[in-house]
Amino acid sequence: MFPPSTYATRRDRLRKDLGSGLIVIPGNNEAPMNYRANTYHFRQDSNFLYFFGLDQPGLAAVLDVDANEDTIFGDELTMEDVVWTGPQPTIAEQAAQVGVAKTLPFNELGDFVKKALAQKRPVHFTPPYRHDNMILLSEMFGQPVAKLKENASEVLIRAIVAQRSHKSAEEIVEMEKAVNISGAMHVAVMRAAAAGKKEAELAGIAAGIATGMGGALSYGIILSINGQVLHNHHHYNTLQSGQLLLGDHGAETAMHYAGDLTRTCPVDKKFTDRQRDIYNIVLDAEVSAIESLRPGLAYRDVHLAAARRMAEGLKSLGLMQGDLDEAVAQGAHALFFPHGLGHMIGLDVHDMEDLGEDFVGYSGEVQRSTQFGTAYLRLGRALEPGFVLTVEPGLYFIPELIDQWQAEGKFTDFINYSALKNWRTFGGIRTEDNVLVTETGHQVLGKPVPKTVAEVEALRGMR
Ligand code: GLY
Ligand code: MN
Repeated sequence: MFPPSTYATRRDRLRKDLGSGLIVIPGNNEAPMNYRANTYHFRQDSNFLYFFGLDQPGLAAVLDVDANEDTIFGDELTMEDVVWTGPQPTIAEQAAQVGVAKTLPFNELGDFVKKALAQKRPVHFTPPYRHDNMILLSEMFGQPVAKLKENASEVLIRAIVAQRSHKSAEEIVEMEKAVNISGAMHVAVMRAAAAGKKEAELAGIAAGIATGMGGALSYGIILSINGQVLHNHHHYNTLQSGQLLLGDHGAETAMHYAGDLTRTCPVDKKFTDRQRDIYNIVLDAEVSAIESLRPGLAYRDVHLAAARRMAEGLKSLGLMQGDLDEAVAQGAHALFFPHGLGHMIGLDVHDMEDLGEDFVGYSGEVQRSTQFGTAYLRLGRALEPGFVLTVEPGLYFIPELIDQWQAEGKFTDFINYSALKNWRTFGGIRTEDNVLVTETGHQVLGKPVPKTVAEVEALRGMR
């Protein structure tokens, strides 16, 4: 936990930005897996963590902007709770750790909010994403669950995004830790990979490191010989000589700041010539994108520059052709690069996605594209000091997409479909790092994780 003043300062700013009314921030609860007492791993809501820091279920908080007073709602443990789950400080003692003086039992939250609503005071809330909190808000506000998203407070969403987008020095320390744990996961996986091993064994190594280093996974592990399936969470394949292994996994620290790294390595000790060619195109796009990062640059332009660079590499291999400026403008590159270059990262791996991707990643002057591929870009707006984002270009050979585009005669000026016939089983390659935008440029977070062909092959050669 940060010192109480960190949370108090954040709340002061939020109340000031809102101007009047109440702000309701529900915490998360335990989520049953197959019956009530057998729960998924508990993860506190990130807005609650940011403003109130307490990391346990059964809490909610209200900021009263007009009274300049914050209240944490929660219940003391019963003796039965103590017997089964152990003692914990009182709610008031916990609230004091985050600079909050007032606490009330949880069941007083509803009346507290209803009273403000009856007085016609504005009561702000963010879009709920957990079903129990949807029910809580629905009952409290007398609104159908289906209406909660559109009735969430835009002014609150924008105020939270404005604050959480700029990471403080103490947050960067946590994020460096997250990236370093994530890096250790990747090094261990790349060391252990070998023909005959199951993806699941390697995923187990990665998960063990995340837990063993005091944190948890920051998202479901993607670790697959089928890297062309972008979010491939299946781990049942056995690695075979000649294949590639794509790992996209990361840890969050005990304070829940996330890391999100991707590395791709050969199952053998060395890349094949073809793998090396594609790897170097992706790496070049990633390194030059990172080098370009500075305040004021629109991330959409960094994305398009990376697409252009990879298209050039693909042209040199005879897979793309024609006028590449036009190819990228029309979206032909998305056959090979069908996702965005990156996203904000912080307390969430896709930071603040619960608040709405466009509030986080777009602004008045940069609108989200509707074109296949670039439409998936979660961050397009101009960069500002304090933003932390991922840079994650990739090239993929997706047989189903190639077949569809070829059958439709799509982009035949730019794509050499006959050359692609020999690439159908190639798979996919992605490389990803986490980068802080500074006043003057950028800083890659964490200790370097092997990335060049020579570094990856040296690591693979160690086993
Ligand atoms: N790490 C998965 C993603 O960025 O979507
Ligand atoms: Mn990512």
